[in-house]
Amino acid sequence: MAQAFRITALPGDGIGAEVMEAALAVLEHVGASATVAFEVTTRPIGGAAIEAHGRPIDEATLEVCRAADAILLGAVGGPQWDRLPTESRPERALLRLREALGLFTNLRPAKVYAALVQASSLKEEVVADTDLVVVRELTGGIYFGQPRGYDDQRGWNTLVYTRNEVERIARVAMELALKRRGKVTSVHKANVLESSQFWRDVVHQVAEEYPGVTLDDMYVDNAAMQLVRQPGQFDVILTQNMFGDILSDVAAMITGSLGMLPSASLGDKHALYEPVHGSAPDIAGQGQANPLAMIASVAMMLTISLERPELGARLEQAIEQTLAAGYRTADIAASGAQVIGTDEMTRQVLESYDRINAATESHQEAIKED
Ligand code: IPM
Ligand code: MG
Repeated sequence: MAQAFRITALPGDGIGAEVMEAALAVLEHVGASATVAFEVTTRPIGGAAIEAHGRPIDEATLEVCRAADAILLGAVGGPQWDRLPTESRPERALLRLREALGLFTNLRPAKVYAALVQASSLKEEVVADTDLVVVRELTGGIYFGQPRGYDDQRGWNTLVYTRNEVERIARVAMELALKRRGKVTSVHKANVLESSQFWRDVVHQVAEEYPGVTLDDMYVDNAAMQLVRQPGQFDVILTQNMFGDILSDVAAMITGSLGMLPSASLGDKHALYEPVHGSAPDIAGQGQANPLAMIASVAMMLTISLERPELGARLEQAIEQTLAAGYRTADIAASGAQVIGTDEMTRQVLESYDRINAATESHQEAIKED
């Protein structure tokens, strides 16, 4: 009997819809060749939801998300909604989802694929050994602090972190480091901000429970510089909501393209997976978007939420082999290289996936016959 999972798909805007199509093709394919089945419910979000019912996300969509085993999101936003007030903008839907579902952990791994070292804007020898994860706190800090507002004389936001918020995200980072190279860099601005002095101290207290982890502190400005100077020095970067937003874009670019990076947003009960890239209105509707970040997000979902790490690993391997075979979308192609579109890239990944599957199965047959 196939194990059945309920997935909520939120394609969103721009290339979000195009890469979501790729994700759903992958799910269908994985379901056809393994003992899993996916029951997908699709809902509009962001600009698409504003057009459909006037708000970036509605209560019914939140309910569907709450009922799912995992949520997949494409991307939200576009120039046609840029003049709306903060509360009605497409981005609000993402923040609302994070808040309503308690998704306090954001994992953004940045790993350089061997086949893509040349696609980075940095020198090959600088980026070659990049393998880090940004652990970004996602439901606190200045993104959610009260009071907030602006009038024609002043604009203001509030940056607060509570002990519980810092402790739980610090634990996520420590646990993750134990499964990796054992190093956490806590990034803050404790030379200026009291909220950062508090963050620094609480993280050190949590680290005492993890003798197997080496904890370093780094100011955020230095961290931005070190990321482009020598990214290989980082294992797990632990940081607050806004610094994580900025540093994860930097980390993403090291790998060659924002179009490559997946992410997971996790809470105690719910989980959402999305590419780090945005809706890219400039290339939307052309079938040119790189689907690999979205497909890698599906792999993270299979591994983390659906607890089928063997399927997640196969999908990741399929991405790697597709790149190694030379297939490139425009964002990661060297000049003069042959470029393929979203659908063709997805098809290539699925063919690789089948080859890996077939090899694994014949290997297992061989073991049985022995
Ligand atoms: C991200 C995005 C969002 C954020 C925006 C779209 C609200 O930049 O997920 O990194 O700032 O968190
Ligand atoms: Mg961002």
